[in-house]
Formats: sequence, structure tokens, C-alpha cells
Amino acid sequence: MKMLIVAGARPNFMKVAPILSAIKAHNSGIPKASRGSEPDGSRNTVHAMLVHTGQHYSELMSDAFFDDLQLSKPDVSLGVGSGTHAVQTAEVMKRFEEVLLREHPDVVVVVGDVNSTLACALVTAKISLSAQGDRPLLAHVEAGLRSFDRTMPEEVNRILTDQLSDLLFVTEESGVLNLRREGIPNEKVHFVGNTMIDSLLAFKERAESSTILSDLGLPNANGAGPSGTGIASYAVLTLHRPANVDHQVAFKEILEGLGELAQKCLVLFPAHPRTQKRICELGLEHYFVRGRDGIGAKHRGGETPRSGILLLEPLRYLDFLCLMKNARLVLTDSGGIQEETTCLGIPCVTVRENTERPVTLTSGTNFLGGVNRDGIRRAIGKQLGRQSAIHTPDLWDGKSAPRILAAICREHEKRNLICSSACN
Ligand code: UD1
Repeated sequence: MKMLIVAGARPNFMKVAPILSAIKAHNSGIPKASRGSEPDGSRNTVHAMLVHTGQHYSELMSDAFFDDLQLSKPDVSLGVGSGTHAVQTAEVMKRFEEVLLREHPDVVVVVGDVNSTLACALVTAKISLSAQGDRPLLAHVEAGLRSFDRTMPEEVNRILTDQLSDLLFVTEESGVLNLRREGIPNEKVHFVGNTMIDSLLAFKERAESSTILSDLGLPNANGAGPSGTGIASYAVLTLHRPANVDHQVAFKEILEGLGELAQKCLVLFPAHPRTQKRICELGLEHYFVRGRDGIGAKHRGGETPRSGILLLEPLRYLDFLCLMKNARLVLTDSGGIQEETTCLGIPCVTVRENTERPVTLTSGTNFLGGVNRDGIRRAIGKQLGRQSAIHTPDLWDGKSAPRILAAICREHEKRNLICSSACN
């Protein structure tokens, strides 16, 4: 079976890594004699190709993740780069169609909700690879999540990708219900858990060897706060949603909401390139303490600040994991970080009015702070008083990728049987 696995942007890489390693394990479990031999062996062996669309391309947004997640270089790089939604989506579509026509895969796997996800799903759903109109099976990993907010580009990408997919792999119960409500047949939907959490569990221990805490001059024991403050040493902040950072009024409101926390403790802010650009364009630099080279206190040759919002470059996967694990509090508008903090038992304030990941609110450590200063301030107060406890959501057990692979193999086998009986 030939499978193309698509990754385009930073949050995709940790979702595809476990699928690729499940395929490796699957292939190494097949007796050598039958590997790739016709007619049955070729069905059993999975020939995987990683397609990188290039939606994210900077060293710190892409290459560093390949290193940390021990991913081999992509088999195909589309190199689309940045652009408006229309330009980026169209470029991925044009270039991905050429790959499908050349490679004739049996299966295409897309993950998450970025523009590359929808673009490759659309191409796969409409391609015709034979006179009979055959096309690859389309599998969507992380299907069914809904914020019910169609102003988010990701929500549009999710809804459309799910409508097009043949196999929908869901991370939490809410996804199953959402897909049912949208009329997706039950047999297409598989509740398998969360491949982002597969990566988290696989790399959690390795993150201990990150030197980021000492690089920043921070202690590594959770709760070891500066004397007299009564709170832990630092919080971690990420913000990159256009609605939060593209407009001065909205961005300022959030920063004002963080002000009280930043007076009491250090807030580490590894900022997405979009966010860094906006801080300059919107004239918001005075809200931040910036390390020389954007790298933080130690590299400035001075004392580690004990408070303020310290602006950093985007961090590698293992460094960010290490920072989260040891943080007193995480504040974010990312989807994946809400899930990762739930698994790590670290209190999280989501700087949004909604979440497409409600299990992180009901079973996890997440709390919606909204985007107004008073709401954010209240949410921070509530979460700082919260006892850290880990209630891992169902099936977030590190084994989602093998479940996904097994379901794809079953579906592919079924398709082949139907096809061969039709031909006979
Ligand atoms: C994309 C996803 C979002 C995801 C986020 C994770 C969509 C619609 N959005 O948003 O769901 O949460 O990735 O980071 O697909 N840039 C660089 N280097 C890079 C990539 C981007 O400098 O490697 C800059 C460019 O100036 C670009 C801007 O960041 O214009 C935004 O990048 P883009 O891919 O358009 O969207 P994200 O905000 O990253």
C-alpha cells in the first residue's frame, strides 16, 4: 500500500511523526519473505512518503521540528511558502496534484486544520487516477473538532476537510457527536485518540535533556518561585491567532490583561513570526522585555528578569516541552497547547472565547479566559489557585497512530476486495 502523508505547518509535524513510526514498526513486523511480494505482500507493506507543503519553512518553524521529532527529510517538498489564504491554498493544490498524478498513492493522510490540510484534501477528493476514476482513500487525522466560529480559517478548513474524507480519525468524544450532527456516516468515523499526545508521551522524558531552562537562567523545579512572591518562577505565553494579534486594540487588550501577572512573575513569550511582525508594526514593543537576539536573559549578559513579558524566538519542540512541563501556568491561543497542558497537568488559560477541544475544559486543566482584560485577569487568578492534577482524556494513551494505521489497512483491504470482485 502506498501512502502519502501530508505535513505543512508547525503543528502538523508532531501529528505525523507517530504515524510514520507506526508504519516503520508495522513494516518491520512483516516477515522479510513476504515484504513487497505480489499479490499479498505488497498490500501488507506500507510504503509511506512524507510530503512537506512548505507552508512553514523557517528553520525554527520547520527544520528544528524534524530534528527533535527524529523525522527523516520529506520525500517531497512543495515549497509553497507564505501568502494570502487563497494564494497559499491554490499553490498547495497545484503542486500537490502533480505529486498525486506522478505517485498514484492508495491513501492520502492529512492532519489538523491548516490551509495545507484542506488544499490536499480537495485535490485528493477530486483526482482521477484511472479510466474508472479511481482516487486514493482520504484519511483526516484530528477530524470532528468544532469551535462553531466560522470567522476562524481553521474552522472552515476542518468542516470542509471532514466532508471530503473517507476515514475520519477523531481525538475526543465531542468530535464523534459533531460529525454525526453533520451527517457523516458512523462507519467512516473512528475514535482513536490523539497523535499529538503520542508524540508528547514519546518525547516527554527526552525534553528533560533540553538546556532551555539554564539558558534562560531559570530553576527547573516546578513551584520554585522567586522568594517572597509566593508564586512559581515563570509562566509561558503563546499568541498567534490573527484575531488576537493582527489588530492593535485586540492585542493591547490581551497584554493589559496579562499586566498584573507580569508584575509578579516572568512570562516567557516565544513569539510566532506573525506575532513578532505585528508587535513592531503596531508599536507595542514597550509591553515586552526583549533578550538580545531574542534569546533571553543569559545571552544579554545580565540578570534574569524576575518579572515582565520576555520575548523569545519561536522554540524547538523539546525546548518548548521542557518549558511547559516546568511552568506554573500556560497562556495560549493555540489548539494543540490546550491538549498538551491537559496531559502534563499544567494549568492553562486559553486566550479565546471558544475552543474546539472541549475535553480540555471538562477533563483537563484548561480554562477559557476570553479576550478582554478583566476576563483574562480573572482566569489567571483562578488558574493560579488551581491544584495541578492530571485526568488524561480517553484514548490519549500514546497508541493512537497504530490504531489509525490498522483502520487504514482494513479499509484499504476492503476496497481491494470490492475492486477485485468487481473485476472478476
Ligand atoms: C498557521 C495555521 C494555524 C496554525 C499555525 C501554527 C492556517 C490557516 N493557519 O497559521 O492554524 O495554528 O499555522 O503556527 O493554516 N512565517 C514565517 N516563517 C514560517 C511561516 C510563517 O516567517 O515558517 C510568517 C510569514 O510572514 C507568514 C506568517 O508567519 O505570513 C503567517 O504564516 P501562515 O502560514 O500564513 O499562518 P500561521 O499564522 O502560521
